[in-house]
This record gives sequence, C-alpha cells and structure tokens, in this order.
Amino acid sequence: MFRARITAVLAGCIALTVVGVSNLSQAEEKPIKKLMGENFAGLQTILVALIHSDYAAVPAQAEVIHEHAVDLTQMAPEGSNSDRQTFLSYAYNLAAHALDMKSIAELLIQHDKAHEPSSLGSDQLREALAAHYGGTVEMCVACHNRFRKRVIQ
Ligand code: HEC
Repeated sequence: MFRARITAVLAGCIALTVVGVSNLSQAEEKPIKKLMGENFAGLQTILVALIHSDYAAVPAQAEVIHEHAVDLTQMAPEGSNSDRQTFLSYAYNLAAHALDMKSIAELLIQHDKAHEPSSLGSDQLREALAAHYGGTVEMCVACHNRFRKRVIQ
C-alpha cells in the first residue's frame, strides 16, 4: 500500500519533469513555429483571393511567405550535405513561388483597375497564379514530410 503510494508520487514527479522539459524545448522552437503559423494564415488569404478573383490581399501575403522562405534558408538542418541541400532547395523554391505570386497578383490588380479583367492574357495569368499557389503548397508538404518530424524529435 505504502509502496504503491511512493510509486505513484514518483510517477507524478517524472511526469512533471517531462512536461517541464518539453515546455522548455517548445520555447526554443517558438520562432520557427511562429513563422510557419503566419505562412499558414497567408495561404488561406491567397486561396480566398484566387477563388474570388480579387487579388488585393495577395501581394502583401506573398511577401510574408517570401520573407519566411528566406528565413528558412538560414535554418537548414545540421547533418548530411544532401539533407541540407534538399532542405535549401525546398526553401528557395518556396521563395521563388512566393515572388511569382506577388508579381502576377500585382499585374492582375493593374488589369482589373484598368477595367480590363479579360484583357489579353488575364485568364492565363489567373491560372499561372493558381499554379504558383499549388507549387507553394507542394513545397510546404515536401519539406514537412522530410524534415519536420526530424526537427521536432
Ligand atoms: C524548407 C522547409 C519548410 C518549408 C518549405 C515549410 N516548412 Fe513549415 N515547418 C518546417 C519545419 C522544420 C517545421 C517544424 C518546426 C518546429 O516544430 O520546430 C515546420 C512547422 C510548421 C507548422 C507548425 C505546426 C506543425 O504542424 O508543426 C506550420 C503551421 C507550418 N510549418 C506551415 C507551413 C506552410 C503553410 C508552409 C508553406 C507556405 C511551410 N510550412 C513550408 C519546415 C518547412
């Protein structure tokens, strides 16, 4: 009986220590988590803009994703050279897609302001913007699949 209680108290202490340690590592990881959370919000805004063909919010959001992609290039994991290069290629690809989303959205905004929504090439531009959105999501998924778990564990 007494022994069972001691065991329970010990188990409680161990659990508290584990919680404490994981809180500590969460605090250290905060910057990258914050970056990623902002990325996520930006993607949703861009998707809504694409569906509504209303691009006003896109350039600023694409800029945020671009800045984050550039920050990610400073966070490549230590370890094998090929891992580092793969991580960097995802980050640079993300940066390129974000810049293209920004410049295409700026063109579409100009066309729409000039009341030329269907002027030459506008429809293709809308589709190109959607394609870069797809490329962006592809980079999120590719990098997460390969690197996110390893960084967390
Ligand atoms: C070059 C690699 C890379 C790219 C590209 C990338 N991420 Fe991440 N992301 C990470 C890593 C690494 C973590 C884990 C960070 C941690 O927990 O310390 C992460 C974590 C996250 C998280 C935190 C929650 C979770 O599930 O762990 C979100 C949200 C997120 N990313 C969203 C995005 C979005 C949206 C994009 C694309 C616009 C993106 N990420 C692109 C590397 C990347």
